[in-house]
Amino acid sequence: KLRFLGHAAFEVRSENTTLLIDPFISGNPAAAVKLEDLAAVDYILVTHGHGDHMGDTVAIAKRTSALAVSNAEISRWLAGKGIKTQGQHIGGGHEYPFGYLKLTNALHGSSLPDGSYGGNPAGLLITSKDGKKLYFAGDTGLFGDMRLIGDEGIDFAALPIGDNYTMGPDDALRAVKLLNPRVVMPMHYDTFDLIKQDARAWADRVAQETSAKVLILKP
Ligand code: NI
Ligand code: MN
Repeated sequence: KLRFLGHAAFEVRSENTTLLIDPFISGNPAAAVKLEDLAAVDYILVTHGHGDHMGDTVAIAKRTSALAVSNAEISRWLAGKGIKTQGQHIGGGHEYPFGYLKLTNALHGSSLPDGSYGGNPAGLLITSKDGKKLYFAGDTGLFGDMRLIGDEGIDFAALPIGDNYTMGPDDALRAVKLLNPRVVMPMHYDTFDLIKQDARAWADRVAQETSAKVLILKP
């Protein structure tokens, strides 16, 4: 079960496991939940160090004892704050009770909120225990190797369409063609004026030019 929490934040639940992805809740104008509502969390997956993705990771992990998973640099930074971490890196996967998580490329930056070096930004490719492939692109520009990610057979992809910091609608449409997901969802738009986009218009173009089903969720 997938719940969109606004911007690029998601909650993914299987029978007995709750994952949060890029839990930017405090200060997120699009946040759909209050921080206190996120009570039972097992894992927090962080794509990169920017504040709108690192978000409330530290506070939530301290309160829930969730395991934070990110790249090695961010994991070390979080471990320094007393949080349980698993450091992975791009191209590497690890088997967890919820499934297999691989970090993928992302074309972006990754400085941490205090200016520390946050390694390279990543996307997340989750293979659930029942074999579903979920791709959360993180903040990224378009890159041709999305085709390699698509080769894995993507059931669900969440792609940024906001432009300015990430892919805009045109490149996100090209990304859908490289990834060929069964279902695609736009994210990282409308949170701020600078990334306002017409998601419905984008969905129409995706429907015309690809076989992907577009899912637009309100936070
Ligand atoms: Ni970013
Ligand atoms: Mn961002």
